[in-house]
Amino acid sequence: MSSTHDNLEEAFSGESQANRKYVAFARQADKDGFPNIARLFRTTAEAETLHAHGHLAAMGGIGATAANLQAAIDGETHEYTEMYPPMLKQAEADGHPAKRMFGYAVKAEAVHAKLYKLAWEAAQRGEDLKEAKFYLCPICGHIEFGTPPASCPICGAKAEKFTPVA
Ligand code: FE2
Ligand code: FE2
Ligand code: FE2
Repeated sequence: MSSTHDNLEEAFSGESQANRKYVAFARQADKDGFPNIARLFRTTAEAETLHAHGHLAAMGGIGATAANLQAAIDGETHEYTEMYPPMLKQAEADGHPAKRMFGYAVKAEAVHAKLYKLAWEAAQRGEDLKEAKFYLCPICGHIEFGTPPASCPICGAKAEKFTPVA
């Protein structure tokens, strides 16, 4: 018999995936000219987030900020050191188009881990980050503090492509 903790892991994973799928499906529905169907997808995506967050909280997966940053660093580090390198190698060997996003992700996750480390150091001192502005590369997921770079160090996207995140 599975434990409630195992059930929570499975439910959290399923709800999280449903959320991301519905957001992608909403964008597609907008492109296809169905704005109300897009709204339904977005609303349901929010509902799945409620479920996912409830499951995460019930399994004790949300701690204080310093502990959450440590969990985030561990996750990002696992991705860029262990998870993505063999995936990228396999996709390259297969000539699979997945190699593009695997290649972007393996580099972007290293940046995410580095930025979370800065945040963790601040949180350990009981301080917030000094930086208030974050720019996201919408192509590869690279993040810059303060001002966007002239071109993305990972994918080469120009500064004007970078979007500030509130
Ligand atoms: Fe749900
Ligand atoms: Fe990441
Ligand atoms: Fe980029």
